[in-house]
Amino acid sequence: MFSLAGKKAVITGGGSGIGKAMALTFARQGAEVHILELNAEAGEQVVAEIRAAGGQAAAHGADISQQAQVVAVVNQIGPLDILINNAGIAHVGTAETTSEADFDRVYNVNVKGAYNCLHATLPQMKARGGGVIVNLASIAALVGLTDRFAYSMSKGAIFAMTLSVARDYLAHNIRCNSISPARVHTPFVDGFIAKNYAGQEQEIFDKLSRSQPIGRMGTPDEVAALALYLCSDEAGFVTGCDYPLDGGFTKLNN
Ligand SMILES: NC(=O)c1ccc[n+]([C@@H]2O[C@H](COP(=O)([O-])OP(=O)(O)OC[C@H]3O[C@@H](n4cnc5c(N)ncnc54)[C@H](O)[C@@H]3O)[C@@H](O)[C@H]2O)c1
Repeated sequence: MFSLAGKKAVITGGGSGIGKAMALTFARQGAEVHILELNAEAGEQVVAEIRAAGGQAAAHGADISQQAQVVAVVNQIGPLDILINNAGIAHVGTAETTSEADFDRVYNVNVKGAYNCLHATLPQMKARGGGVIVNLASIAALVGLTDRFAYSMSKGAIFAMTLSVARDYLAHNIRCNSISPARVHTPFVDGFIAKNYAGQEQEIFDKLSRSQPIGRMGTPDEVAALALYLCSDEAGFVTGCDYPLDGGFTKLNN
């Protein structure tokens, strides 16, 4: 079950955290993995790990917020079976404290970046008769979180884009779903704690861990396992769905 043998997958932000776990998992299951990364060196390191384990992978330095770069890389890779819109950035702030520059930055990477990848890959998937897309949304798309104005805006857009694409491409045999994790322990979480809560790192880490009723953060491998299922042939009946992967955050926090 869950074989990806013979499938070509693009994973944005595959150089770190959840994207890295998905790249390693997908390659282990037989996919040819293409990592689109702003941090080209991090992408190359993951590729080296995959190749050392006998898998197939390549890294492509690209900024997903730049449409011309994304289109050039995707066309160079050739017909894709799987797109994982994973690359994203964090931001802490309310509507009042979020600057225009920060709002634009979050929008350009998290929203426009996902659109750019969809825009570049859907024609290829259509031409080859099908494909699968998984978008990384967040619990921030589903509930009101304190101080996450721009980030929540961006993940709400991912949630809505998932439905729109799933509807528009039903007839083209393209499935599109999203995953909404609560906190997953990655450099993304460590980075925003360090940047926004200097001096209280451990206290905030423990607080964020406890905010999942299950009592801890998720792991990148747990997200990768769900993404693998959604991209496999076994999930052929699943489209237009969001999957909270959240240790009970959305339903059990009462
Ligand atoms: N970690 C969490 O708690 C959590 C929770 C919910 C959702 N998510 C979402 O999961 C996704 C991955 O998060 P993560 O925690 O693994 O993050 P991460 O910071 O560990 O990794 C993100 C990767 O994306 C790359 N990237 C950033 N901007 C890019 C750009 N413009 N072009 C190409 N690559 C770019 C970075 O270089 C990095 O390697 C994000 O979309 C995030 O919003 C994470």
